[in-house]
Amino acid sequence: MNPEAHSKKVSTLFDNIAGWYDFLNHFLSMGQDLYWRKRLVATIRFGSTGNILDLAAGTLDVSLAIAHQKSAKQIFAVDFSRSMLHKGQQKIHNAHNIMPIQGDGRFLPLPDHCVDTVTIAFGIRNILPRTDAYKEILRVLAPGGRLCILEFGTGQTQIWKGLYNFYLHWILPKVGVFFSKDPEAYQYLADTITAFPQARTLAQELLDAGFSKVLYQPLSSGIVYIHIAQKAG
Ligand SMILES: C[S@@+](CC[C@H](N)C(=O)[O-])C[C@H]1O[C@@H](n2cnc3c(N)ncnc32)[C@H](O)[C@@H]1O
Repeated sequence: MNPEAHSKKVSTLFDNIAGWYDFLNHFLSMGQDLYWRKRLVATIRFGSTGNILDLAAGTLDVSLAIAHQKSAKQIFAVDFSRSMLHKGQQKIHNAHNIMPIQGDGRFLPLPDHCVDTVTIAFGIRNILPRTDAYKEILRVLAPGGRLCILEFGTGQTQIWKGLYNFYLHWILPKVGVFFSKDPEAYQYLADTITAFPQARTLAQELLDAGFSKVLYQPLSSGIVYIHIAQKAG
């Protein structure tokens, strides 16, 4: 599938499940997603701009966690799904430094060097080609800034004696379709998790894209990983 057709498919998919997204996230991860996002936010560093980009911001859970845990000047919350952002906007309340922006991670509607950290939670595996997003992220990051990625582990190594893999391929698509009534969406989730590179391969991919240093850390026995990629100062 070409990148444009893929983008259209993904944004339509998230538009369709936006109403169920938060509930299913918490339910299917048994509340772990809140802890994972909190750990992601703890990796944020500030520099000269005071601004953060939360890319693939969805219903703004990471942006809100940043607003609560950190004192950012502006949090640009970029996502191409209008319905996901709309759902998130209803939760902003007093977090006035969050600025939702409808846009594509491959063509960021932001000026050069305007943020100190880019966060992306459960988003990078949806973007094709990822190299286009890396290029844009490097452009908007200030020198010395960092990209902090939260993403599922691929399940290529057995976690909890294969329980995670069973959950991923059998339980998750069935529960997802039961609530969201979208047979494609949660199968897509399982497929993209499996197809995503292992942590070490992703680290090399980020170095090849131009980041100067990359670290990664498994959480919950490798169900998810945090990757931190530094732009040269
Ligand atoms: C699984 S959700 C994650 C949302 C949020 N970060 C979270 O932690 O819940 C993935 C999001 O990525 C967005 N997305 C996928 N590809 C994108 C792209 N090329 N540009 C902008 N947003 C994208 C989708 O619209 C969706 O809201």
